[in-house]
Amino acid sequence: MKVAVINFSGNVGKSTVAKHLLKPRIPDAEVITIESINADEGEEQALRGRQFAELQEYLQITDNVIVDIGASNVEELLSSMKRYRGSHGDFDHFIVPTVAALKQQQDTIATLVELAQLGVPACKVRVLFNMVEDGEDLAQVFDAILSFLVAHPVAQADPACRIGANEIYGRIRRTGVELSALLADETDYKALIAAAKGQAEKIRLAQRLAARRLAAGVVPELDDCFAALRLDDRPRTSAAV
Ligand SMILES: Nc1ncnc2c1ncn2[C@@H]1O[C@H](COP(=O)(O)OP(=O)(O)OP(=O)(O)O)[C@@H](O)[C@H]1O
Ligand SMILES: [Mg+2]
Repeated sequence: MKVAVINFSGNVGKSTVAKHLLKPRIPDAEVITIESINADEGEEQALRGRQFAELQEYLQITDNVIVDIGASNVEELLSSMKRYRGSHGDFDHFIVPTVAALKQQQDTIATLVELAQLGVPACKVRVLFNMVEDGEDLAQVFDAILSFLVAHPVAQADPACRIGANEIYGRIRRTGVELSALLADETDYKALIAAAKGQAEKIRLAQRLAARRLAAGVVPELDDCFAALRLDDRPRTSAAV
């Protein structure tokens, strides 16, 4: 299965979704992150044509891949997809995470429009509602996107494709730690904390205990979200050129 995680907006959770929702649930999947490369002068360098050509080649020779497209590269990627007619067909699905802020919803709509204009069929595009707060009325909070989709059904948007706001994602960001590993950790932290000498050590252990508790809460939620995405709904091979 080949999945692109995409949105013109930054900070909507593309990398979080790629790493913590999709990778652990798509067997043998690898994550390719297309992020800006920092040039020597510290300037950001966007995806170039050659890199897109390489990505396309790579997609032909690999089976399970999740491509996480950093916001600063989305425009370039989409215009490359325009040049290489039909190349969007390399992906089985496009997942578009969004958050509730109006600007992000507008960017999400713009992303959905671009995908539709490229010729990506609605059945391949999934909106994913991220950072949903407890007790929030999803239909109301994401009204901009949902109303747009009623008028222009260019993507699937199942309210069950949601991830709650949870501090665990921030805590484990940029560490190699996987949520499943936190969950599988059977350490008796309470005993270790009781036996620990210094305050700093006790706090370090308490943080690990807290992370495991948070992981225990989010993993079932991510399982439900993944099931609701229904990525197996369509054949994995694409007829596109
Ligand atoms: N469900 C969530 N709850 C709480 N924090 C979250 C959630 N999803 C993502 N975050 C946090 O929001 C920030 C942005 O997430 P992430 O890096 O995944 O976004 P992105 O779309 O990949 O951004 P960029 O376009 O800059 O690459 C990170 O600090 C991440 O830990
Ligand atoms: Mg990212």
